[in-house]
Parts: sequence; C-alpha cells; structure tokens
Amino acid sequence: MTSIAARTSTTPPQTASQARRRPDRILSACGVLWFLTAAAGQWIFVYYVAAYYAPRLFQLGLPGLEDTILPKGFIAGDLIGNLSAAFHVLIAIFIIGGGPLQLVPPLRNRFPVLHRIIGRVYVTAAVATSLAGLYMVWTRGTPGGLIGQIAISIDGALIIAFAAIAVRFAMKRRIDKHRRWAMRLFMVVSAVWFFRIGLMFWFMTTGGIGIDAKTFEGPFLTFMYFAQMALPLAVLQAYFNAQDGKAPGAKYAAAILVLFCTGITAAGIFAAAMGMWLPRI
Ligand code: HEM
Repeated sequence: MTSIAARTSTTPPQTASQARRRPDRILSACGVLWFLTAAAGQWIFVYYVAAYYAPRLFQLGLPGLEDTILPKGFIAGDLIGNLSAAFHVLIAIFIIGGGPLQLVPPLRNRFPVLHRIIGRVYVTAAVATSLAGLYMVWTRGTPGGLIGQIAISIDGALIIAFAAIAVRFAMKRRIDKHRRWAMRLFMVVSAVWFFRIGLMFWFMTTGGIGIDAKTFEGPFLTFMYFAQMALPLAVLQAYFNAQDGKAPGAKYAAAILVLFCTGITAAGIFAAAMGMWLPRI
C-alpha cells in the first residue's frame, strides 16, 4: 500500500520533469555525436599529416618539403619561410590531435592539472602556428589567390583573439564563459580541416561545380574560404542559444540541425580520407 501511495504521489512530478529535460538530453546527445564524429575525422587527418610530412622532414630536413603538396613548401635560401612551413605542419599534429581531448568533460574533470597543461600548450601552439601560417600566406601565397589569403588570415586573427579570450576567462575562473570560448576556438582552429572535408564532400556530391581546378578559384571556393570558419561558428551559436532557451521546439530544431551537420561531416570525412589523405601516404 505504502509503495503504491509513494509511487502515485511521486510518479507524475518525476515524469513531468523528465519530459522537460528530454529536449535538453536529445540536444546534448546530438552534440556529443557530432563531436565524436569530428574527433575521429580529425585523428584521421592527424594520421595523414604525421605519416606524410614527418618522415620526409626527419629524413631529409627542410628540403623534404620540396615536391610535397604544400605549394612552395621549400624555397632554397628562405630559411625563415622553410622553418615556418615545417613548424606549421609538424605542430598541426599536436594541435589537431590534442584539441578534441580538451573538450571531453570526464578528462577535464578527473585530470584538471593535465587539462591546464595541455590547454597552455594547445593555445601557445595554435597562436604560434597561426603566426607561421600568416608569414607563409603573405610571403609565399596560397592556392586560392587573394581571397584565399584574406580568408585564412581572418581565421588566423580569430584564432589569436579567441585563444586570448578563452585564457582570460579561465584565469578569472569564469568557467562557463571559458568553456564556450574554448569551443569557439576549437571551431576556428579546425577551419583548415572543415575546408578539406567540405571541399571533398562537394567533389563527391557534385563533381566540383563552381571550382576551377587549374586556378583553384571559383564561386564555391570563395564560399568555402569563409564558410570554413563562419558556418561552424554559426551552428555552434545556434546550439548555445538552444541550450540557453526554454522552448522545446527550438531545442529539437537545433538537435536536427546538429544531426544534419553530423551526416555532412561524416560524409566529408569519408570523402577526404578516401580521396585526399590516405592515397597520399
Ligand atoms: C591552427 C590551426 C591550423 C592548423 C592545425 C593548420 C594545419 C595545416 C596543415 C596540416 C597543412 C598542410 C595541409 C595538407 O597537407 O593538406 C597546412 C597548410 C597551410 N596552412 Fe595551415 N593550419 C592552421 C592554421 C593556419 C592559418 C591561420 C594560416 C594562415 C594565416 C595557415 C596557412 C597555411 C598555408 C598557407 C598552408 C599551405 C597551403 C595550403 O595547404 O592551403 N594555416 N596547415
């Protein structure tokens, strides 16, 4: 009797609160699914960068960057430029490999000291490699011409700015704000990866409409140069807004958006891995 009474008196409020939390749980599950997909794709990229560049550099030194897919990876007599290029691709292994680890809550909560150490290394490396990238872009150019140079430079500036903001909030112990800026930093640091999976997704689905293969310019590429950072930041903001809001409909809409992005991300990773990264190794 007692247990029936207890059940009848507690069941309705529990069900109501569970129902209220359901949209949040679904939204969060979709976010986790996207993150796991992206982390797997980033580690495939890391594997490619390590297997493609590291052996050449360790065996041949800086001239190992000659005849790679890096445009003007090695220029005789340009020591600073060559060092920038070598540093840029080698440090990418740690940045892209370590970035996702920073966003895993159990690792962050159980090993706070490790989180701080990796965080400092990550931020320093991201800023340093962005400076090296800026040097490469403005002294050696980039395949996309001026628009590509401007877009990737904006990305470099965003990386430096977001890194500073994320660190500032961590030092002030404003952890909620630190977390969100760290996630924005992750998105702009990943822009070069988004570019590659977006490009290969486009080739796989349309055959490359809007891309001039000779000049590596065209309307789709112009779109991608900016979309590589703007789209992930916009979707992340939609996710944050839905988390903060109360309307279940908005949470479901954001969950569907994130699920849709997960599908495109997975297809782009497949296209980039099979068509670009793995064949080069
Ligand atoms: C911090 C995030 C970044 C990472 C992890 C990263 C990583 C890489 C990697 C792995 C490559 C070789 C590409 C390949 O083999 O497919 C590359 C190329 C290049 N990166 Fe970055 N990069 C980052 C940011 C930047 C920024 C901010 C700039 C310029 C401002 C830049 C400029 C370049 C240039 C010019 C190349 C050679 C041309 C090209 O492949 O587009 N990178 N980067």
